[in-house]
Amino acid sequence: MTTETEHRSLGEEVAARVERRWATLSIVIVGVLVGMATFIGIHQATMPQGRVETADPQTLHLSGEFIESNLGSTVEADGSVTVRAVGQQYSFTPQCVVVPANTPVTLRATSADVVHGLLIEGTNINTMLVPGYVSELPISFPAAGDHVMPCQEFCGIGHQGMWGKVKVVDQATFRSMMAKRRRLTCVD
Ligand code: CUA
Repeated sequence: MTTETEHRSLGEEVAARVERRWATLSIVIVGVLVGMATFIGIHQATMPQGRVETADPQTLHLSGEFIESNLGSTVEADGSVTVRAVGQQYSFTPQCVVVPANTPVTLRATSADVVHGLLIEGTNINTMLVPGYVSELPISFPAAGDHVMPCQEFCGIGHQGMWGKVKVVDQATFRSMMAKRRRLTCVD
């Protein structure tokens, strides 16, 4: 009888100890997460993003960098290429982008209405187009070929139909396509 009682109290003691250990561990985990969130919150508040560019979605089509005649690819003085694009419900402008292979490309894009996504298949380009802000990303395509460019952020009932294309051509082809043009898209 005594042994049985001892056994039971020993078992209870072990259980209580294990419970306490788990409770302590849970509290420590919650504490660490709260600490991390606080640190990141304060850190980002004191060190905001290095560069935030804005673009008024109301006037995109009227003036400034993202007017329609300025969209597409253009060659910079240093030989790099800048692509400007706008996402809107439910298409990209330009719908098809042409860029040269093996050349530094800078993509600059924004949204004219709601939040869209821009993903270029086969690359690490995957960004959001937020109305009011400019998304800028560096890209380089190692070879000629076509890449689909779907919107990857649900943006309304036509979201699944919002697809663009990136056509990568060799440098000589790009040069000849670009000749006598300031801006280039697939339809030029
Ligand atoms: Cu635009 Cu989904």
